Amino acid sequence: MNLGFAGSGNMAAAIARGLARSSRSPELMLFADSGSGRAARLADEVGGEAVGSLDELAQRSDVVVLAVKPAALIEAAGPLAGRVDGVVSVLGATPVARLREAFGETPVLRTMPNLAVEVGHGVICHTAVDPGDAALVEALEMLGSVARLVVLDEEHLDAATAVMGCAPAYLALASEALIEAGIEAGLPAEVSDQLVRDAAAGLGKHQLERDPADLQRAIASPGGSTEAGLEALRAAGAPEAFRGAVVASLDRMSGKA
Ligand SMILES: NC(=O)c1ccc[n+]([C@@H]2O[C@H](COP(=O)([O-])OP(=O)(O)OC[C@H]3O[C@@H](n4cnc5c(N)ncnc54)[C@H](OP(=O)(O)O)[C@@H]3O)[C@@H](O)[C@H]2O)c1
Repeated sequence: MNLGFAGSGNMAAAIARGLARSSRSPELMLFADSGSGRAARLADEVGGEAVGSLDELAQRSDVVVLAVKPAALIEAAGPLAGRVDGVVSVLGATPVARLREAFGETPVLRTMPNLAVEVGHGVICHTAVDPGDAALVEALEMLGSVARLVVLDEEHLDAATAVMGCAPAYLALASEALIEAGIEAGLPAEVSDQLVRDAAAGLGKHQLERDPADLQRAIASPGGSTEAGLEALRAAGAPEAFRGAVVASLDRMSGKA
């Protein structure tokens, strides 16, 4: 399958980098941008080809990953609609009904990947795919080589986005703050940086096997230093701050903020 990318920004790059090293790469990856030169740089990096227009992308792709900003949906859909076997949208807060309006008869799939597809450990939430849409079924299977696929009712996709698409950035902010705290406590910057990243990576794996509350109990012995730190975090309102971040993300998606 030739997989086209309409848009060659952060998310397109993450998917393309993940696929380039997966066992289930497309035969050819094609990239388009709106003139920044990112398509050519990405094609060089992952071993694909940049095209000069969405028109050429439509001619040469079987399925297109729609990876422009939501505001560019209509502009990007024009040259693609009716000309490819399927469109996989990664657009935030863009319902299937809007995608269908833009793409007409072309089969569309709404997905929400997170950036960890780049390292083959992503999550991709998506609406149900019609088994008759063979090209989309094949594209989804390919994406499954870089992410866990989670099928959800569309009404749950925005909430899912807030906790799996946006939330890695909130957790990365916690890592950044901890690296700074380590430096303030006297560690050389590169040592603090590496230790926090290693601890976060270890936690990432560990959380797949043990639930977060259990892990906190296992690390924080009563009266110990971790317990003191957790108490300081709760006293500073950390749990409420994370809930607030999810609410702020959802408000932005619904246009309230
Ligand atoms: N970043 C994430 O973690 C994340 C997670 C989940 C979903 N998403 C979704 O992914 C989509 C892209 O986000 P991003 O962060 O990758 O944005 P980005 O870095 O700004 O990339 C957008 C890309 O779209 C291209 N583009 C815009 N209009 C175009 C047109 N008419 N024809 C061809 N290319 C066009 C831009 O071209 P230029 O390079 O020329 O500007 C750019 O390459 C968004 O809808 C977002 O909701 C992002």
